[in-house]
Amino acid sequence: PTTAIIVVAAGSGTRLGAVAPKAFVGIDEHSVLRHALDGVFAAEAAQVIVVAPSGHEGDAETELLAAAGDRHDLGRVVTGGETRQQSVAAGLAALWGDITTVLVHDAARALTPPAQIDAVAAAVTIDAGVIPAIAVIDTLKRVDAGDVVAAVDRSELAAAQTPQGFPRGLLEAAYAAASASGVEYTDDAALFAAAGHPVRHIAGSERAFKITTPGDLARARQILNVRAE
Ligand code: CTP
Ligand code: MG
Repeated sequence: PTTAIIVVAAGSGTRLGAVAPKAFVGIDEHSVLRHALDGVFAAEAAQVIVVAPSGHEGDAETELLAAAGDRHDLGRVVTGGETRQQSVAAGLAALWGDITTVLVHDAARALTPPAQIDAVAAAVTIDAGVIPAIAVIDTLKRVDAGDVVAAVDRSELAAAQTPQGFPRGLLEAAYAAASASGVEYTDDAALFAAAGHPVRHIAGSERAFKITTPGDLARARQILNVRAE
C-alpha cells in the first residue's frame, strides 16, 4: 500500500492563546508544525499534505521544506477550512497519484513517535480504519448539571489519538457523505464509522498527546528539555 499523510495544522489554537496560530508556536527553536513534520518524515510516507491556516501557506511551506529535505517533492501545502473536518476534506482533495492508504494526523500532536505512525499505517486494511488509543487514567463520571448521574466503567473507554488511518476510497466516500449530511463529527474515526465501516484500535503512546493548553506546551518543552528563560 502507498500511504499519504495529511497533517492538519489549520487551527487557530484558541485554548493555547498564543499570538500565532498554534502550528507556528515554538516548542524549542522549532515550531509545533516542524516537530510534527519531522516525525512524519521519519515514518514511511509516499506523500505528505500539510493543511495550513489561510494566510500562512508560505510559513507552512518553509516548515515542510525544512523537514522534508531532499524529499520535498513528496510534500504539498493546501489551505484549511473553518472546522477540522473541512481542513481534512481540503487535504483529501489534494491527494495525487496511486495512494491507497490515508493517515490523518494532528500537527498539534507534535511529539508523536514515528513508530506510532508506521504502526497505524501497517494496521489499515481494505475495509477497516485504525486509531491509536490509550487507557483512560482518571475516574470518569456521567454528570447532569450539578449532579453526578453515574460512574463510567473506565475499562470500556479509551482516549483516541492520531494519526488515524483509513483505506483511501472508503474515507473519501465517507467524507463526501458527511459533507452532504452537514454533520460535524468529533474525529475521522467517528465520521468513517458513521458510513458503516469498522474501526480498530492499536496502542497509542503518552508522547502523542495533543498540545492544547499552555500546560501542554510546557509539558512538550519539558520532554524536549528546553530550559526556561
Ligand atoms: N485543525 C485544522 N483546521 C481547523 C481546526 C483544527 O486543521 N479548522 C487542526 C489543528 O491545527 C490541530 C488539529 O486540527 O492540529 C486538532 O485541533 P485542536 O487541537 O482543537 O487545534 P485548534 O482548533 O487550533 O485549537 P483550539 O480548539 O484550542 O482553537
Ligand atoms: Mg479546535
